[in-house]
Amino acid sequence: MSVKSFSPQLNPDEEVIENTLRPKKWADYIGQERIKKNVKVMIDAAKKRNESPDHILFYGPAGLGKTTLAHLVAKESNANIRVTSGPVIEKAGDLIALLTSLSDGDFLFIDEIHRLNHFVEEYLYSAMEDFKLNLILGKGPMAKNIDIDLPRFTLIGATTRLDLISSPLRSRFGAILQLNFYELNEIEEIIKRSSDILSVEIEVDAIKEISKRSRCTPRIANKFLKRVRDFAEIEGQGKITRDIADKALDFLEIDEMGLEPGDRKILEAIIKKFNGGPAGLQALSAATSEEKNSILDIYEPYLIQSGLIKRTSQGRLATRLAYEHLNLPIPKAQEKLL
Ligand code: ADE
Repeated sequence: MSVKSFSPQLNPDEEVIENTLRPKKWADYIGQERIKKNVKVMIDAAKKRNESPDHILFYGPAGLGKTTLAHLVAKESNANIRVTSGPVIEKAGDLIALLTSLSDGDFLFIDEIHRLNHFVEEYLYSAMEDFKLNLILGKGPMAKNIDIDLPRFTLIGATTRLDLISSPLRSRFGAILQLNFYELNEIEEIIKRSSDILSVEIEVDAIKEISKRSRCTPRIANKFLKRVRDFAEIEGQGKITRDIADKALDFLEIDEMGLEPGDRKILEAIIKKFNGGPAGLQALSAATSEEKNSILDIYEPYLIQSGLIKRTSQGRLATRLAYEHLNLPIPKAQEKLL
């Protein structure tokens, strides 16, 4: 199987951890039951018909396992997978080279597919629909249209931003599946599994504590586990106790709800600089020096999920829970909005 690993939001260290801990078998993938069931039916039905499964789009916040699922879908279909990402495919020629190098039954995974250049994206339409590339050679009256047949491949796209996927592209996916934040007990199970792989001893209460602060996200849970393990080796005897987990996470400035300093900066800005909001995206970005896309992709999904902010048509509003969490008084004028 040819696999080029690519995960743009991660630094090389994080990528190594992800690859070690990433489930390699369908049965080892914890959570996202609805998606697993959905995808399994697609795979089994395609196998029965001796066809490739339909193109699939996974969307949802970062770190929930879109890339892992893509690999597992290919593996479950006994197929090769090629891995790339939207921003890496700069020119139409890059995509054409990639598509023409595939074989029948191969999977192509395009991470961050919303960042595909629009000109390049147009070549995907006929490739996905008819397994053909429509090329125009030359210019003006001498220009010639030629169709190139492509192998029957399955495209798996992943995105954190379904809203940025154009409707012609969206309509060419046979299944569009949303990954949701994990349940606490699923994150606990993932931490237990990861501790076993890393051969680190961990108390049940420590698992619960790390899980509680992991923002319902496996990537964060695994990152914290690794940091807490370092702490246990240096400050303790190597075993992760509840006390060590608490101390390490406090030291890392991860609070009770799993918020990191960056998350709190956003919340505090809405409350202190915008009187609780609503704050527009542009203004919030200027006030926090965070890029608009980071606010949308990284910070906001969990702040909304955990009920700390609300998105209204006028902008982001800090909720009652946000004031309580930061221990700040709710201004009288804001009460009526909450
Ligand atoms: N590691 C990261 N995500 C996982 C998942 N969903 N199941 C098991 N281990 C994981």
